[in-house]
Amino acid sequence: MIPDVKAFFDDATNTVSYVVRDPQGSACAIIDSVLDFDHASGRTGTASADRICAYVREAGLKTEWILETHVHADHLSAAPYLQDHLGGKIGIGDQITVVQDTFGKVFNEGSEFQRDGSQFDALFKEGDSFHIGQLRGEVMHTPGHTPACLTYVIGDAAFVGDTLFMPDFGTARCDFPGGSSATLFNSIQKILALPDDTRVFVGHDYKAPGREEYAWQTTVGEQKALNVHIGQGRTIEEFVAMRDARDATLGMPRLILPSLQVNMRGGQMPPPDQQGDVMLKLPLNKL
Ligand SMILES: [Fe+2]
Repeated sequence: MIPDVKAFFDDATNTVSYVVRDPQGSACAIIDSVLDFDHASGRTGTASADRICAYVREAGLKTEWILETHVHADHLSAAPYLQDHLGGKIGIGDQITVVQDTFGKVFNEGSEFQRDGSQFDALFKEGDSFHIGQLRGEVMHTPGHTPACLTYVIGDAAFVGDTLFMPDFGTARCDFPGGSSATLFNSIQKILALPDDTRVFVGHDYKAPGREEYAWQTTVGEQKALNVHIGQGRTIEEFVAMRDARDATLGMPRLILPSLQVNMRGGQMPPPDQQGDVMLKLPLNKL
């Protein structure tokens, strides 16, 4: 079955969110939503999420799933906001517990921060399947960028999150805690083993030298032939050497500290303080 896919590009964070729809009905899933966040003022906003809400409502869709490919480090998730407004179950990979354990320590979270994934409605593992109306989705565990990364294969479409980017941009970084370039290489081989005409929808785009327009859709065949980091049968040794050298030059994403604190809670804010105000932490010299 060939799902309808509508993409929403967020300029502020270069994130692509998707609404995936059962072509024979009104069921849909929302993948990797964005809660707007102005770092300078500490102010959140819902303009990006509201665009998705408006689309879903105008198309008369029923939201069955709100899916995360992973705990994002560069934007806040709007999953709880979308769930409040549209319904649906929030799903992520079951290795979220590893990510919660790692960053629970980084942020000195107390025992009120559960590290069992219970903030989510569904925890998926390799080989799990789910339905969006009549559409069947399959779960591939594709770690490397983070331990919990998933690829959702829905009909002929693979939502690869931060594993592969567009062929002219390459692949995702592997230097966050729990990341591994060798692991990402092996995860990408699983994606490249899908049929060549599988549509591939990436989680971010930053353009690439010589390309003027943002892009987010490609195919497995194009990735195999053209991906600048991993195409044409690049070996694991070549990939690991390239990826690790490149990662050593990268600064941390602008929103990593707020993003992780919120996204490891399923997009919920930390509990309010005694005055009823919500605060995020800025740990010094820990990342
Ligand atoms: Fe990411």
